[in-house]
Amino acid sequence: MAIVTHQDPLQLLKSRTQKSFELFKEAQKVMPGGVTANIKYFEPYPIIMEAAEGARLKDVDGNEYVDYLLAYGALILGHGHHKVMNAVIRQMVTKGTTIYGTPHELEMEMAKRLIKLYPGIEQVRYTNSGTEATLLAIRVAHAYTGKPKIAKFEGHYHGGYDQVLLSINPPLEQAGPADRPVAVPDSAGVDPYYLEHTVILPFNDLEACAAILKEQADQLAAVVVEPVQAGFIPATETFMRGLRKLTEELGILLIFDEVKTCFRVALGGAQSVYGVTPDLTALGKVLGGGFPIGAVGGKKEIMEVASPHGKKDVFEMNVTSKKKDVLFHSGTYNGHPSVLAAGLATLDVLEDQDNFETIVRTTEKLRRGLENVLKYYQIPAQTLGMGSIFNVVMTAEKITNYRDLQNANLSLRRELDYHLLTLGIYTKPLNRYSLSLAHGDREIQQTIDAYEAAVKRLLVARGSLVQD
Ligand SMILES: Cc1ncc(COP(=O)(O)O)c(C=O)c1O
Repeated sequence: MAIVTHQDPLQLLKSRTQKSFELFKEAQKVMPGGVTANIKYFEPYPIIMEAAEGARLKDVDGNEYVDYLLAYGALILGHGHHKVMNAVIRQMVTKGTTIYGTPHELEMEMAKRLIKLYPGIEQVRYTNSGTEATLLAIRVAHAYTGKPKIAKFEGHYHGGYDQVLLSINPPLEQAGPADRPVAVPDSAGVDPYYLEHTVILPFNDLEACAAILKEQADQLAAVVVEPVQAGFIPATETFMRGLRKLTEELGILLIFDEVKTCFRVALGGAQSVYGVTPDLTALGKVLGGGFPIGAVGGKKEIMEVASPHGKKDVFEMNVTSKKKDVLFHSGTYNGHPSVLAAGLATLDVLEDQDNFETIVRTTEKLRRGLENVLKYYQIPAQTLGMGSIFNVVMTAEKITNYRDLQNANLSLRRELDYHLLTLGIYTKPLNRYSLSLAHGDREIQQTIDAYEAAVKRLLVARGSLVQD
């Protein structure tokens, strides 16, 4: 009988990741906080990776991890899928360049694929990130409706710019009433203009949304929503349908931010699951097969506000037509051929045989396995998600929005995640789990075993388990 002793996960983690720590100290000298994106930081320091294969990451100290972060969900085929790697290399080698800087056929090919898969997409524009995609969708909505404000939901993330860096993770004491949340900035430097021009809505509460939207309708260009909040709290069908009906009646555009959910909850995104067609859709992550991309798709009539036909752009001299009548959208790297080659190869693999369904089945298997472990050790918890994304939430209570989530035991989850890191399971502490085609039975069993070991350590630390 093995004795399980109390081990501090942070100390354990530090003892296994000394080289990461040394490199991180260097990184801090040249990058604020030692990171290139704030989300990549966690205590005591982020683990620095140097190699990857399939479902696995390897850090600079030689530790191996089953990867559930998967570049925040982007790598749905896992690391280095040969078809994606080959498509990118083939594109560059056979076409003789990394980028044409002109229109090319892959842009159309991907647009046609998206139009076929996504009910809400009739025309497409590419960007270089999900952030840029939601930014463009919002500008399209302003241009099309001529109205000055947008509404977003409490707890929903749409990227890192002023208008949407509000009430993603607000302290409850500042967040106002549950049925009428107030805008709370999530970053220093947010221009107060955006507090005045962004209305915050409560997710999955149709009645409260109706009251707010009716009051603000003549000011609101769009409602932007993550149909599955943070990738794991689904909208109820009633809410989604009701929101569509309401926005239609009030003349407000509905933007689905499917940056996380595209090709992950279903090939046609959350809109194909709910049977609800938004006016505009923002895509990203999986779309680029592990390379930077975003896209906005939507109804032709709306997207045409960005068409330069017969109009001038901002760089033309002697402009006589009204510049303000055209929505200016540009980007040196928009529609990058190597990125689109990677994205198209990814879609080919997902659509091949039942590869997408295989990933969903693997996800279900993992969820059931983790739920069984947590239930066996009587830890109040649940897995919550859709398709190939889920999260482990430490409460048995029903979770429908940001405020419900605050009742979960976040410190228990954090502690569990640190134990898991020392047991070779990687996700950023508290982050959701994304799965890939590279996650097989071996990875799933390894993860369930690690979970059990981590839970035992937790219980030992709390004095509720002495021995195995
Ligand atoms: C729903 C959603 N929208 C927008 C973004 C921003 O995308 P990116 O990080 O590619 O800029 C993200 C990123 O996590 C996201 O999850």
